[in-house]
Amino acid sequence: MESKTLDGLMQPKSVAVVGASSQPGKIGYTVVDNLIKSGYEGKIYPINPKAADILGIKAYPSVLAVPDEIDAAAITVPASLVEQAAEECGKKGVKALIIITSGFSEVGNRDLEDRIVAIARRYNMRILGPNIVGTLSNSQKLNASFAPFLPLTGKATLISQSGALLIAMDASTYIRRVGFEKLISIGNMSDVDFADIITWLDDDPNTTCVSLYIEGFRDGRKFMDACRRAHKPIIALKSGVSSHGAAAAASHTGSLAGAAKVYGAAFQQAGVVQASDLDNLFDRTLALSLQPPMKGDNLLIITNGGGVGVLATDSAERYGLPLQFAPQDLRDELKKHMPEFGSAKNPVDLTGMAGRDWYEDSIRFAFAHPWVDGLVVLYCETSLTDPVDIAYGIKKAIDESGVKDKPVTVSFVGGEQSEKATRWLVEQGIPTYSAPDLAVNALAALREYAIMQQMLAETNEPCLDVNKAQALEVIGRARADGRDSLTEIEAKQVFAAYGLPVTKTQLAKNEEEAVELAKAIGFPIVMKIVSPDILHKSDAGGVKVNIKDEAGVREAYRTILNNAKAYKADARIHGIAIQEMAPWGTEVILGSVNDATFGPTMMFGLGGIFVEVLKDVTFRVAPVAEGQALRMLSEIRGAPILAGVRGEKPRDRQAMAATICRYSSMIVDLAEEISESDANPVLVYEEGKGVRVADARIILKKK
Ligand code: ACO
Repeated sequence: MESKTLDGLMQPKSVAVVGASSQPGKIGYTVVDNLIKSGYEGKIYPINPKAADILGIKAYPSVLAVPDEIDAAAITVPASLVEQAAEECGKKGVKALIIITSGFSEVGNRDLEDRIVAIARRYNMRILGPNIVGTLSNSQKLNASFAPFLPLTGKATLISQSGALLIAMDASTYIRRVGFEKLISIGNMSDVDFADIITWLDDDPNTTCVSLYIEGFRDGRKFMDACRRAHKPIIALKSGVSSHGAAAAASHTGSLAGAAKVYGAAFQQAGVVQASDLDNLFDRTLALSLQPPMKGDNLLIITNGGGVGVLATDSAERYGLPLQFAPQDLRDELKKHMPEFGSAKNPVDLTGMAGRDWYEDSIRFAFAHPWVDGLVVLYCETSLTDPVDIAYGIKKAIDESGVKDKPVTVSFVGGEQSEKATRWLVEQGIPTYSAPDLAVNALAALREYAIMQQMLAETNEPCLDVNKAQALEVIGRARADGRDSLTEIEAKQVFAAYGLPVTKTQLAKNEEEAVELAKAIGFPIVMKIVSPDILHKSDAGGVKVNIKDEAGVREAYRTILNNAKAYKADARIHGIAIQEMAPWGTEVILGSVNDATFGPTMMFGLGGIFVEVLKDVTFRVAPVAEGQALRMLSEIRGAPILAGVRGEKPRDRQAMAATICRYSSMIVDLAEEISESDANPVLVYEEGKGVRVADARIILKKK
């Protein structure tokens, strides 16, 4: 999509209000009033069939009667009149509709919404909404909404899927001192979605950071592509993170793939910083909109209080920036600006005696020091110092350091004077907070952003040595058989076609074949029932392991068949799988789901109790590049087990990562066919000894 197509919406030179009213209290009145009060410099055209003028501005009975061009039309007539209004706007050549009206797909009235979108497409109009508050822009002096006023001026732009939340945030920008360039209510996203606006904002010189409040959307890949292409930080608060679709899931992976995990994975892969709640969205937006990314891990904390220093140290560890001691030359210099009993290690404790000079001298030197990647300055209000004066000192030192490419955040803990100092520092472009934890968290957001940007540079090596035709043939046979799940043997054939290291498995249709195959594969072996009607083989007594000889094969063959018949008398039985018994290794699980928003999505976790009870798993939207696969291995809680604990050698993480990449290529390649899948267990051996997939399950998409 050409980002320019949104110009009429984002920078309208004229705005009509269709449904403008002279009655205070009506939305059609408020929108006209807001346009006037916000100082909008373009033309305003109130549209009302009965009124001659509204709020002192000449009104027209229809947009078709307006003598000039109209860029955007805010629609505030009831839902039943919107179709006609859209048609007239189309005829008039209006570029964008801002449909404030509710009563569309959000209440099940999708047909009406679809008809309006069809009209817009016919006339090449874009639609914001419906079911929105409207849109606000400080640089355009445009309040085309029923939110009370333009937000505090700043450099972030908020796109909110909730209108109520946008209104609430609008007012609180003044209390929280977080400035915004635009607030955009996006509502039902019948046409314009997050991705479209993110793309437009990337070229907007007034926006340095994009802040999102997300409830959910359909086209996850489009969203990810837009975020990946963006050159500005994007931060998202996602609500509604309880698990979705879990009840219907047929695979292990399906039951674990909640919205929080899948959206979280997509955000990480698209370079989107996350906020944990509304406060955090504000706090992190402030830092991301004002400061550059933090390019390395070395955080230095300068404080006048030991307590806040320790609190900040704890926070740093919590947010992935554990403190390191400052190098000796930096310490030697800092020692000159503190009393004997101060500490120059990190946190740098200037002590309660610290005045403006000590702050200034240490910040000026430390910020410019090459070891320092980011700085947090803390101040506790003392009777020896004036907080506002300290704030002046901090600003001066940062300016004089000459550093432009490193971030700094500040926390002033104290009373009214500290609050005054905080406000002043924020106005100077220095994100300042009321608690050390907030300052560290905000800096961590700048580090997360930088790390994710590096990750985006990683590319995916496509797997070329795959045999898709073979996989499709296996799937086709199962479908011809009227099934929507594959047997283990079939699933392993599909896996093998994608080069996944499955254990040798063959189907025996009678006892003699079982003996022959067991001998060919080599003892010990595993035997499993193969039946499309028995998914949970162990529960049915359909699995025997560690069979060491021919007699064992014969006995197992009969026992398994008897058990299966007892479990389900009418089960269709294809035979018994004769399987190589892979040596013991660390058990992990791989799996996939076809997420409604993001499509094929991978899961990885440790097997057994770790997945069953602790749900210690992690997700990525497929395909997964090797760097991301390695991160999947290290971000689960059980990661140390793979790294080698209690004298055990490290597991073959490289081979495991390669297997994840391959698996992810498979589910992308076969996205039209595979609904869910599991490889469970996958056995991971010592470094250099690879992995083996011991069991496989594939559920097909219903066709
Ligand atoms: N062209 C132009 N104006 C017209 C037309 C027309 N064809 N037909 C009627 N009008 C005029 C009406 O005469 C009226 O003006 P008047 O006061 O001079 O008579 C004006 O349009 C508005 O029409 P009403 O019938 O009075 O509609 P009302 O203002 O009661 O409601 C509204 C319209 C606000 C769009 C309502 O239907 C609605 O959807 N409300 C919810 C909006 C909302 O909350 N959106 C955000 C959701 S997000 C959140 O939760 C915060």
